[in-house]
Amino acid sequence: MLSVVVLISGTGSNLLALLKAIESPLVPVRVLAVGSDSAAPGLAHADLYGIPTFVVEPHRFPDRESWAKRLQETIEGFKPDLVALAGFMKILPPSFIRRFSPNLINIHPSLLPLFPGAHAVRDTLAAGATETGATIHIVDEGVDTGPVIAQKTVAVMPGDDINTLHERIKNQERQLLIDTIIGVAEKRIDLAKV
Ligand code: GRF
Repeated sequence: MLSVVVLISGTGSNLLALLKAIESPLVPVRVLAVGSDSAAPGLAHADLYGIPTFVVEPHRFPDRESWAKRLQETIEGFKPDLVALAGFMKILPPSFIRRFSPNLINIHPSLLPLFPGAHAVRDTLAAGATETGATIHIVDEGVDTGPVIAQKTVAVMPGDDINTLHERIKNQERQLLIDTIIGVAEKRIDLAKV
């Protein structure tokens, strides 16, 4: 059984897709807890499944390090095998990365290394790209620079805006997240060898 803590910052549609995908007891994955940097709407999905949630808000701490330390300690309390960032929008310091990586993965709405950062979909449209995609990768100390586990391409359609394109990308992200986590659980993916 692979135990996972998921971190989110927003609507949590990737989290919800994962929770639905692992509902069957035949799937060897268990989400122990869902955390956020704010009272994110996506935490309601965890509540629906009776999964503990926690919020560690940066503004309650004097600096990023002390915030990340509390986040780290909270996660450690659940003793997960894997930490999955599913729309977690804060930059984590090297101390946090070193504690969990390579068992620390992130989904990103572009074909990394293209369009890293918090505005990937906006930047993709601004660049006039006709193709983009979704990436799942191991988190390293850079921003969206860690080893790529898997990617799926997504077409940019004429008339796309940020929302229509992002939703099309999210459809692929959700599948990448599910396939990767189940792949790790079934030992078809070894994060130490990506
Ligand atoms: C995803 O596109 C993820 O790649 C990005 O934020 C989005 C989160 O979407 N970092 P949701 O909260 O899972 O709906």
